Amino acid sequence: MNANSSNSSNPMPDNSISSADFSTNAIKPSPSSSSQGQQMWGGRFSEATDSFVAAFTASVGFDQRFARHDIEGSIAHATMLGQCNILTDSEVATIIEGLQQVLREIEAGDFNWSIALEDVHMNVESRLTDIIGAVGKKLHTGRSRNDQVATDIRLWLREETDNIIELLVRLQSGLLNLAEQHTDTIMPGFTHLQTAQPVSFGHHVMAWFEMLYRDTERLVDARRRINQLPLGSAALAGTTFPIDRTITAELLGFEGICQNSLDAVSDRDFAIEFTSNASILMMHLSRMSEEIILWMSAQFNFVKIPDRFCTGSSIMPQKKNPDVPELVRGKAARVFGQLTTLLSLMKSQPLAYNKDNQEDKEPLFDCVDTLTGSLLAFADMLPNITPNVEAMREATMKGYATATDLADYLVRRGVAFRDAHEVVGNAVALAIDEGVDLSDLTLEQLQQFSDAIGDDVFDYLTLEGSLAARDHLGGTAPNQVKQAVINGRARLKAFA
Ligand code: ARG
Repeated sequence: MNANSSNSSNPMPDNSISSADFSTNAIKPSPSSSSQGQQMWGGRFSEATDSFVAAFTASVGFDQRFARHDIEGSIAHATMLGQCNILTDSEVATIIEGLQQVLREIEAGDFNWSIALEDVHMNVESRLTDIIGAVGKKLHTGRSRNDQVATDIRLWLREETDNIIELLVRLQSGLLNLAEQHTDTIMPGFTHLQTAQPVSFGHHVMAWFEMLYRDTERLVDARRRINQLPLGSAALAGTTFPIDRTITAELLGFEGICQNSLDAVSDRDFAIEFTSNASILMMHLSRMSEEIILWMSAQFNFVKIPDRFCTGSSIMPQKKNPDVPELVRGKAARVFGQLTTLLSLMKSQPLAYNKDNQEDKEPLFDCVDTLTGSLLAFADMLPNITPNVEAMREATMKGYATATDLADYLVRRGVAFRDAHEVVGNAVALAIDEGVDLSDLTLEQLQQFSDAIGDDVFDYLTLEGSLAARDHLGGTAPNQVKQAVINGRARLKAFA
């Protein structure tokens, strides 16, 4: 799948009905809403649905996004009905040809969506019957919109998940390349946003890689629970027809079958799980954004990002604003909100399907679109940041970042850590007084605080020495970070 697939997965034309068109005058009277009992389910009704109610309850304004998946599901369902001798081969062939024509019309933007037909499912079925005649009415044998919509959401979300995983892999491989170039580029590592110890920029970038790697694992794992077939559960209890759900599952590429019909039509935990994972991922992107924003400030001056991710100010000519990371930081809030929406939507819902469930789509769409957009921006932006090597080095020098190294040096010479801590505190105080780095103090100056200090101490006070000393799995020593990049490349293959 390519970067545009999130667009191509939504083939809907711009003439779609907006979900906000609730005002009665926004609704065109259609033959089926003007004459009572004309709706597809209208048999037992004694008056036509109020036109406001029709618009208020319709989902076609947004669920038309499922059209391709809905038709794919219907083709599989019809094929299964044929194989189980519930429909004849020629009925199935006619239905499939008709459905393919409906899809062509939709993709060409040549489809007349009707609010009176409520949702994507009935719009498609109604048009099918227009095209192929009465046999179109047989398609709905042995199913319900309840299992149909649950199937559509899963097919759609599976595809979007794959697209998102692909973007994540692209972003991570870009970060591996960036880290590889900067295993020796020294920057301050922070705690409390105060200079703590020297690290390499490559090590910092590999921390981002690890966050994104776990995010990818979570999505891959959640995909297994998305990829289960609800179809065949019908309205809630199953169907009286001799269906074979294994056929439908195989045709649609589902790796399993929902085992209980009541659960299958009603739960949306797979969507909540996706949105939880998306929230954690957006939380990570917001942390990276925050660092980029800080680092781009004149006060840090640590990195540049390509101009295409920035904008200027209409009034302050000197400004270059980090709009893209700022927006991604802000968009995390939206995704957290959609998670809360979906959890609240499902809270306390009794079995089985309730109309409340129609409210699952817009939060999920917004979550997917926000996440996909943020990842598209990040996959191009983050691997293309350029560190300002000099400024990073200077900031590390200023922060007495090798103080812990001096303490560790003393400990190796038999000084207890607490005493070493005190010695180094005194040395740092002197360096601050003199306005120099620890490594600029003379041996005599250092020795006044402890006679355990020898002339080899300067090997440990350099930034390079400090980095190289942290030479174990997970440490910042350049050879460890090089190895982490090699391991990262191998681990990333799991998602290819
Ligand atoms: N538009 C509905 C939804 O999104 C489809 C299922 C409708 N089922 C029903 N019994 N009204 O949930």
